[in-house]
Amino acid sequence: MLLGEETELEALLARLGGGSGGARPKVHVAIGVDGSLRAGDELAVGGDGNAGEEWIVKFAATNDPADIGPLEEAYARMARAAHIDMAETKLIPSASGPGHFATKRFDRPAPGKRLHMVSLGGALEASPHMPSVDYDGFLKATLAITHSMADVEQAFRRMVFNVLSRNRDDHVRQHAYLMDDRGNWRLAPAFDLTFSNGPGGEHYMAVQGEGRTITREHVEKLGKGHGISAKRVAAVIDDVRSALADWPMHARETGIGVSLTTVSEGLDSVTRQFG
Ligand SMILES: Nc1ncnc2c1ncn2[C@@H]1O[C@H](COP(=O)(O)OP(=O)(O)O)[C@@H](O)[C@H]1O
Ligand SMILES: [Mg+2]
Repeated sequence: MLLGEETELEALLARLGGGSGGARPKVHVAIGVDGSLRAGDELAVGGDGNAGEEWIVKFAATNDPADIGPLEEAYARMARAAHIDMAETKLIPSASGPGHFATKRFDRPAPGKRLHMVSLGGALEASPHMPSVDYDGFLKATLAITHSMADVEQAFRRMVFNVLSRNRDDHVRQHAYLMDDRGNWRLAPAFDLTFSNGPGGEHYMAVQGEGRTITREHVEKLGKGHGISAKRVAAVIDDVRSALADWPMHARETGIGVSLTTVSEGLDSVTRQFG
């Protein structure tokens, strides 16, 4: 379908909710307690005590490396190690190549239960197609929407991770907020973390006006401006650095193939320039 060829799969993919946003093709599935997979819309029909959980399964876009599934899983593991809030993720084996990345939906916490979700771009009516908000704006929006300094620090931590892991596809639809039962909004878990190029090789969201050669000083200045102590900033940077230092282990365990050299060199170069 991506190559414009006709396929019999169109109806099935439409039913699986293929257009759930983002750039990559994806499907919504229910994973039963026994591990069985069903179309997401069959979940409510369950009735056999095997209600299951709702997950999103992602497939490679035409310009993705073949091991994009393992790559996103390796990034999710490193993010968790850096104390970044992430939904549960796993690799679903493929018959024809590396596994597909799957993530448990954080906006569907239990069968039949749905949480309101709004992206950063939605909240600010900011364009996702061009760099329209920087990390200063993201942190300000996070405080205004959540009234939570813990969430501001979590957003800051995500920024440090995105800089040091070279995740430059960090536009305004890559961050979101969730509403709880009492109407309080909180920062949603992080998602779509991977090694990536932003527009012209720069981050969509700049740090202190810098989109490419982001250094420790830029990050420290931004943290200070948002009331995060120098000690906390240093701790966050240390957490992210030590999580990313385990890249070779995660690459091995998730089965990274063609991306190994590109990502290893990319991580080295951003770490060096960061100082
Ligand atoms: N675990 C999750 N729970 C709920 N919604 C999610 C989750 N992961 C991603 N999303 C939503 O799905 C959209 C597409 O997912 P994303 O991983 O960004 O795909 P892509 O790589 O195609 O950009 C996201 O913008 C977000 O709104
Ligand atoms: Mg995305």
